[in-house]
Amino acid sequence: EPTLGAAAAQSGRYFGAAVAGGRLSDGAYTTILNREFNVVTAENEMKIDATEPQQNNFTFGNADRIVNHALNRGWKVRGHTLAWHSQQPGWMQGMEGSSLRSAMLNHVTRVATYYRGKILAWDVVNEAFDDGNSGARRNSNLQRTGNDWIEAAFRAADSADPNAKLCYNDYNTDNWTWAKTQAVYNMVRDFKSRGVPIDCVGFQSHFNANSPYNSNYRTTLSSFAALGVDVQITELDIEGSGSTQANTYRNVVNDCLAVSRCNGITVWGVRDCDSWRSSGTPLLFDCNGNKKAAYTSTLDAL
Ligand code: XIL
Repeated sequence: EPTLGAAAAQSGRYFGAAVAGGRLSDGAYTTILNREFNVVTAENEMKIDATEPQQNNFTFGNADRIVNHALNRGWKVRGHTLAWHSQQPGWMQGMEGSSLRSAMLNHVTRVATYYRGKILAWDVVNEAFDDGNSGARRNSNLQRTGNDWIEAAFRAADSADPNAKLCYNDYNTDNWTWAKTQAVYNMVRDFKSRGVPIDCVGFQSHFNANSPYNSNYRTTLSSFAALGVDVQITELDIEGSGSTQANTYRNVVNDCLAVSRCNGITVWGVRDCDSWRSSGTPLLFDCNGNKKAAYTSTLDAL
């Protein structure tokens, strides 16, 4: 029986899933996970609130269970995420200015150092741009520490874990015509021209009625790749069902395979009932663990 991971490996790519630590004791879940995937992302366990619940008091137990599950099987890990406006611990939510800047850089350094050599790619910075037509940075406590906070985070991550790929990750950056996409593109171009250490861009790719898959996705992936970065599909899920959903999964895979620097795809969960979307059926396996039409179209396209 072919699997997603083995099929992706035929073209040198990986096929990953977001893993919730609490599900690792569910045998039906791990049967699918262990069979189909070869990269994992911790769905929540490596985030700032999970790894530094009190300032300078780091806890890695829950993240380590996921990392070890992967490394023990010869898989790779995407590190998610070092600097983000969301899922900050309470102590960080209340901080501003230079003390926040120092705390953020300390967090990046400590977490990336702890996992040095174990991470395929870090989402160094997540979701730093606004939705809508402005192309502006998102107004967050991190942004208010100064516009250079993103490059400062990348430089700190590079010092701490020099061999990991360092990614910028975001959503609503899939459609080439959107201002947010262009704003991220301009930032990456600027970083490459000034030698800021960025290696990859993650496209979350949560597709739904408000942000549907668009056929210019391939143009987006290839345009970013032409800047000299890898591109990865990092949090794929697609609202819908049946053949419509299966076709969209097929299109996404075809678009990645058309871009040589698109080196991996991660789905944001295993079964529909594991999805962060409280309603809907956006993943490749149904709640009973059966393969959906979307699974078959994905496998066929790989
Ligand atoms: C989501 C998780 O899936 C949920 O369990 C959690 O409650 C909220 O975060 N973009 C990201 C991910 O980068 O970290 C988010 O994950 C989904 C959107």
